[in-house]
Amino acid sequence: MISVAIMGHGVVGSGVAEILNTHKQKLFAAVGEEIYIKYILDLREFPESPFAQRFTKNFDDILSDREVRVVVETMGGLHPSYEYVKACLEEGKSVCTSNKELVAAYGAELLAIASQTNANFLFEASVGGGIPIIRPINQCLVANNVSEIAGILNGTTNFILTKMIRESMGFDDALKLAQELGYAERNPAADIEGHDACRKICILASLAFGRHIYPDAVSTEGITGITLSDVEYASVWGGVIKLIGSVKKLDKDTIDIIVAPMFVPGESQLSNIDDVFNGIMVRGDCTGDVVFYGKGAGKLPTASAVVADIIDSIKHLRSRKYLSWADSDNSSVLPAEKSVTAMYIRALSDDRAAAYDKTKAIFGDVHLLEKAGAPMTELAFITEPMPLYEIEQKAALLKSAGVSIASRIRIGDL
Ligand code: HSE
Repeated sequence: MISVAIMGHGVVGSGVAEILNTHKQKLFAAVGEEIYIKYILDLREFPESPFAQRFTKNFDDILSDREVRVVVETMGGLHPSYEYVKACLEEGKSVCTSNKELVAAYGAELLAIASQTNANFLFEASVGGGIPIIRPINQCLVANNVSEIAGILNGTTNFILTKMIRESMGFDDALKLAQELGYAERNPAADIEGHDACRKICILASLAFGRHIYPDAVSTEGITGITLSDVEYASVWGGVIKLIGSVKKLDKDTIDIIVAPMFVPGESQLSNIDDVFNGIMVRGDCTGDVVFYGKGAGKLPTASAVVADIIDSIKHLRSRKYLSWADSDNSSVLPAEKSVTAMYIRALSDDRAAAYDKTKAIFGDVHLLEKAGAPMTELAFITEPMPLYEIEQKAALLKSAGVSIASRIRIGDL
């Protein structure tokens, strides 16, 4: 019998306990012994839980119990998750977490501690919920030089955008629904402002390129500024708006990494990934494009990835899995203003014809988007690809010529 502890009995943690209970036989067959939940750490009371007797409010119960070899961290947030996980790893206990904020902030350090104590620090559930992506990049695609990863990494925002695109539902109603369904973070700002997707692309970039990329180095935009009008213009253009996390290797020392809403062309595999689903494209030099698709959020999909890590940890109790990356100072991240992109711009002006002339004079060739029923004051167009600083300079010129910018969304090269 192997004893495990689960820290945090929220959506994912309770899902882990549930799967360990409901899939007992299958998991027994996988590891050859029973997996016993010895402790569940939570400050709240759960008298109705089938594990009610195993709850503790004291982390030291877990830390000091030598029988506990694997600890699950599903508390979320940075503190005290970081302190608890670090202490467990230092004690030689393996840790499996779904906490992307923790991995994105402290991954290099925690992996190094795991390596020193011959423990495992695994986090399959931290990106893509139930979709296998960490192991595939780390193991199955390891022979490839990965040049690019791009994906829809946040289920909540994809759910909201899908409701806006398909049902013209208002942003607030769609967010409320996502929260009721258990998709959103404790603080939904992390979803809608892009921070959750940013943490996930940082984890994937760190894994693929071997050095820690910290979220504060990554230009991050969310979806709060997206309007139904922009959604309609994307459709006129032939695509949809998706929140994309993307990282491209430009040369051996430089990556271009960003999180932003983007126009995604209808022919891209990412354009049909809807609702709470996530989709992640990994471009390898041997494989070409490989796309991973599935439920990126929700109790059981995410918990199933944590349970897979528990199984892996148990199977590798004395042989550490090779999973690590070096720490870094973010110097490999291309400054956001140098990133090259084409841009959709929705401009407003009293005189549309004059605004178009000014636009052509400033931006050169643009692709005009015509939408039935659009206000006469509106001019929507797509620029040629150029560095972001150049787009900003030209947008400022347009503004000083009396044309204001209502929206600006990147064109995804996907
Ligand atoms: N809030 C996250 C999402 C949960 O919506 O994708 C899974 O990481």
